[in-house]
Amino acid sequence: TSYITLDSGFKNTGCTKSAITFLDGEQGLLNYRGYAIEDLAEKSTFIEVAYLLIYGNLPTQAETDNFKLQISKHTLLHEDMKKFYDAFPPKAHPMGQLCSLVSSLSAFSPESLNPNPSKEDIDLGIIKLIAKMPTIVSWIYKGSLGEPFIYPKSKLDYVENFMNMTFGQVTEEIGIDPVVVDALDKLLILHADHEQNCSTSTVRIVGSSGCNLPASISAGISALWGPLHGGANQAVIEMLELIKNDGGDTEKWINKAKDKNDPFLLMGFGHRVYKNFDPRANIIKKACDKILDKLGINDPILEIAKKLEDAALNDPYFVERKLYPNVDFYSGIIYRALGFPTDMFTVLFALGRLPGWIAQWKEMRENKEPIGRPRQVYVGEVNKHFVAIADRV
Ligand code: CMC
Repeated sequence: TSYITLDSGFKNTGCTKSAITFLDGEQGLLNYRGYAIEDLAEKSTFIEVAYLLIYGNLPTQAETDNFKLQISKHTLLHEDMKKFYDAFPPKAHPMGQLCSLVSSLSAFSPESLNPNPSKEDIDLGIIKLIAKMPTIVSWIYKGSLGEPFIYPKSKLDYVENFMNMTFGQVTEEIGIDPVVVDALDKLLILHADHEQNCSTSTVRIVGSSGCNLPASISAGISALWGPLHGGANQAVIEMLELIKNDGGDTEKWINKAKDKNDPFLLMGFGHRVYKNFDPRANIIKKACDKILDKLGINDPILEIAKKLEDAALNDPYFVERKLYPNVDFYSGIIYRALGFPTDMFTVLFALGRLPGWIAQWKEMRENKEPIGRPRQVYVGEVNKHFVAIADRV
């Protein structure tokens, strides 16, 4: 195996050619299908961005209307899926529930199991997944409260519908606050794709075996759950709370993050590809101030976050290693202001990343990519003689 190049963590290995997302880590640039993330976050909507990522172009009005109509036809879940929700203990982590629920969709969508799916089968599978995901996610939240599920309403837009199913009681009375809808829409756009990150390459590699779409996406959700990936948004808020309750001494926590004998990391900092500001973090930081202000919320952990960021950006340890805030550093503060509990944050990341995962799975199939199968450098023992059980010590 001497001819095999070892690249732990795939730091320098390109695994595919892709025309979906461009990321320049040195300059801090992010584009979806050639459009700057800053423009999309400001001028587009999540559903438009979903279409853009999956089908390659910004949809015309007719394409948008048709996309929304198709989605609205598939937002309901099979009634039997409710039994899954009943079976989970009330405190089951939302990400664990999400993996299982999304994976179970294949059981309710027989066409997804067709070994040679037609273009229509694939398109239907994509629409179904995009349509059902908000319902699945809202019902996880409702289940955690022991409250009745709220059914999707086809007259509402994608994000409005999600907010209504999640916080229906409030929204029925006072209407859905456009500030809240816009804030979530923007966050979902910013999370929609990020080229070959851990969860996306998982979706591609699982899909490369010919595995169906819901199961491939479910694998991506599992990969996203970890605290080094999407789970960082939950970990950031837990860290900020801890620092606040510990007296708010940011210097002490910065020193802990630098200490190589301490497993503590500054969560929401650092990135495999960005060696400059993560453009998503820039947008989210600005949005954070605006949204909290508009909602009249004064969250003390925002001050702690800013103090930490300031301290880190002026500390040689972080400067030398080019560690900057990433997308997860400020997003949780917004989710919290919108009313979501901390353990729902990574599920919201998954809701946003769904179109990216789908686009990448579709591209992998269309490119007819071979099965993903990395090699290894074997370092174990060789040529050992079998020892009968009685002779083993
Ligand atoms: N706090 C303290 N030190 C850090 C941090 C951090 N957050 N991130 C990296 N370092 C150090 C690391 O210890 C290493 O130091 P040294 O060169 O002395 O060994 C150096 O910086 C390079 O880091 P690395 O771990 O080799 O980099 P990586 O590309 O393998 O890992 C990362 C990238 C994002 C997993 C890592 O920066 C990290 O664990 N960050 C905290 C978790 C986090 O915020 N994850 C979200 C990632 S972005 C969005 C997403 O995917 O969800």
